Amino acid sequence: MTLKRISVVLLACLALAACGGVDPNSPLGQRKAIFKQMLKTGEDLGGMLRGRIPFDGQRFADGAVKLDALAHEPWKHFPQVREQDHTSATDDVWKKQARFQEIARELEAATGQLVIASKIQPYKVSNLAPAVQRVEDACSACHKEFRDH
Ligand code: HEC
Repeated sequence: MTLKRISVVLLACLALAACGGVDPNSPLGQRKAIFKQMLKTGEDLGGMLRGRIPFDGQRFADGAVKLDALAHEPWKHFPQVREQDHTSATDDVWKKQARFQEIARELEAATGQLVIASKIQPYKVSNLAPAVQRVEDACSACHKEFRDH
């Protein structure tokens, strides 16, 4: 092996290690990345309503659209057969597909409602908070049933 070759291999290993040993292009790597973005986007919206971040109507509306788009993305990255390593998805994702998909659809419905709510002006926390809550409820319902931590 040439020196150049060795450093390429080494770099690839480092890149993998940086992502906790998960290949970012694998289905697992892709869905994890989407879930992380969903968390970040959802936290910004919740943060604006709870006063952690200054409320900005345009930013809120943009975030809602982004979250709605992301909410449709993770599901296709769950393969036919469960990976053995690095996944925190429980076996039930595969054994209870109908229920899993049902909550996935619930999340998509909730983010769709959030987009609608974020178009109503003037902005009111009393209008937006229940919509964000419904999204967060869908996240936690699924994690409770289908994620092992
Ligand atoms: C229909 C089920 C379902 C819904 C709805 C859902 N998740 Fe998850 N989520 C999972 C599963 C399953 C995993 C574990 C993925 C894995 O490791 O294979 C996961 C993992 C995650 C992770 C960890 C990613 C990582 O780096 O390991 C985050 C963060 C997350 N979800 C955020 C969210 C947020 C935020 C929402 C709502 C906006 C949400 N999820 C909605 C099923 C769901």
